[in-house]
Amino acid sequence: MKTANRMLALIATVTVAAAGCAAVGDKLVTPDDLKVIKGSFRAQGQARLDRLDQDDAQRLCSNPPPATIARGDAERVEKSNLAAIRYPADGKMLGDWKAGERIAQSGRGKQYSDDPKAPSGGNCYACHQLSKAEISFGTIGPSLYRYGATRGNSPEMQRYTYGRIYNPQAYSACSNMPRFGHNGILTETQIRDVTALLLDPNSPVNQ
Ligand code: HEC
Repeated sequence: MKTANRMLALIATVTVAAAGCAAVGDKLVTPDDLKVIKGSFRAQGQARLDRLDQDDAQRLCSNPPPATIARGDAERVEKSNLAAIRYPADGKMLGDWKAGERIAQSGRGKQYSDDPKAPSGGNCYACHQLSKAEISFGTIGPSLYRYGATRGNSPEMQRYTYGRIYNPQAYSACSNMPRFGHNGILTETQIRDVTALLLDPNSPVNQ
């Protein structure tokens, strides 16, 4: 029974790690467990085994409940992730909102079976409401409907929004939102496009 429970815990952990949402918590999994997990995957195409290695933020955010991240650690995660954001060299944070809409509504990419040369989607709709017309969207994240209409389009708001999408952990340690720029899921051009989707007065987000 004990072994069965342990196996179930391992399977659950592997599933989470494979989904890329979080990785393996130090307290849940011993180095030997990690060896078993790593041994049960093989790299294929763009799905490489380095995804099983945690960085500082993942390690600090992976302690099982009811443990929470200490305030000092959260500040450290946010500070180092903020410092690692690479903003566009020309200072232009906004791209084409129409391209941004296609990216936001696409959940493709980063699987071993996807063409690595094809651009990945942002899957934003899976966690956020984006427009009035959508009949189905996820609610893990807050609604972004009228995001730009309520916050304006100032240079500070453009920079915040670009950075927020590039690396959510810079603003909210242990965020469930993917680190789109930091982890190379979306390109600079694509992040500009989704930033425009959120801020352009003509985009469906702001109608
Ligand atoms: C797996 C779920 C998930 C996905 C996918 C996701 N987000 Fe988020 N997002 C969140 C959560 C949760 C928050 C709440 C704050 C936090 O935890 O970071 C958030 C917050 C935000 C915010 C900050 C909102 C505010 O009030 O300042 C923006 C902007 C945002 N997301 C944009 C996007 C965009 C654009 C995409 C797609 C490229 C996206 N998100 C994809 C979960 C997600």
